[in-house]
Amino acid sequence: MQLLGLTLQSPFLAAPMAGVSSPAFRLMARRSGAALVYSEMISAAGLLRRQPQTLRLCRQIPGERPLVLQLFGGDPEAMHQAAKIASAEEVDALDVNMGCPVKKVRRQGAGSALLTDPDRAAEVLAAVVEGSRLPVSAKIRLGPRNDITGTLVPKLVKAGARAITLHARTTVQLFAGRADWEAIKRLAAWCPVPLIGNGDVFSGRDAVRMLSETGCAAVMIGRGAMGDPWIFSRAAARLAGREPQAVTPAMKQEALLEHLELARSLGGEGHAVHFVRQFMMWYSRGLPGASAFRRTAGSCTGLDELWAECESFFGALEQAA
Ligand SMILES: Cc1cc2nc3c(=O)[nH]c(=O)nc-3n(C[C@H](O)[C@H](O)[C@H](O)COP(=O)(O)O)c2cc1C
Repeated sequence: MQLLGLTLQSPFLAAPMAGVSSPAFRLMARRSGAALVYSEMISAAGLLRRQPQTLRLCRQIPGERPLVLQLFGGDPEAMHQAAKIASAEEVDALDVNMGCPVKKVRRQGAGSALLTDPDRAAEVLAAVVEGSRLPVSAKIRLGPRNDITGTLVPKLVKAGARAITLHARTTVQLFAGRADWEAIKRLAAWCPVPLIGNGDVFSGRDAVRMLSETGCAAVMIGRGAMGDPWIFSRAAARLAGREPQAVTPAMKQEALLEHLELARSLGGEGHAVHFVRQFMMWYSRGLPGASAFRRTAGSCTGLDELWAECESFFGALEQAA
């Protein structure tokens, strides 16, 4: 499919998630079938101040492209300058965060605060488009309290948005209730640019169902991919009418070994331990003996020690399977 000037291998995309969408997470998602991956949201103000921790979020590793960098900010001029910096990176598109409900972000007039003023949202988007050599999209929620997409989306498209992602909840809902797939369907029926549906896709079946029930062009998966990057290939298999391959403990162990090697090459031992442990927690969720494994893994201080625990946990499961 075509999206943001790219030819994608499937309509299943990995969502931007702060604290989660690291290069390793994205690489794993790509290898497991995500057609397009997003960085976590990156502060425009931080980019302009050249803060090292913000610049680090723009870093990519080989194999993860196509990659979209997501920016947040409420000031058009700052977003314009940030777009120049971000689009100089080896990435494929920029996205503007218009959905983050976190107070710290809203206080800057950014994230979901932009939904309260569609004209300002369009101004911010236009500033990013002007500053960027890359296609630009916007990720929105339905609106502050109810569905305002009918007013907002035409303004964003006029300002140059080449795609829209809709997390089908309002700002006040945060993550409560169910995502309103009917709202995705309503918007998909007239949206002049490709609509990416988002919200409550937790299985390959859900992903295919969102496509068929709403008519959206692509499906973005967030929480469902945390600890289960294979959700993308399962979705692609279901879409092609094939039965997906089951995920085995050996597959999880192999993925963790890749994470470990990647973490070692990207940062120091301390960073790598923290990071690999996070994936171990995710990958062990729901498996027999997971709580004891998590407790032990939680007290490991070195990578080798952590790896030994991992081998023994997943190895035993594989043998029992
Ligand atoms: C831990 C976490 C961090 C997130 N960070 C971002 C972010 O940086 N930018 C963004 O646009 N959305 C962010 N989101 C929202 C997700 O991209 C997505 O819209 C939301 O989780 C709904 O999709 P899901 O039901 O597939 O998880 C975040 C969500 C979670 C759970």
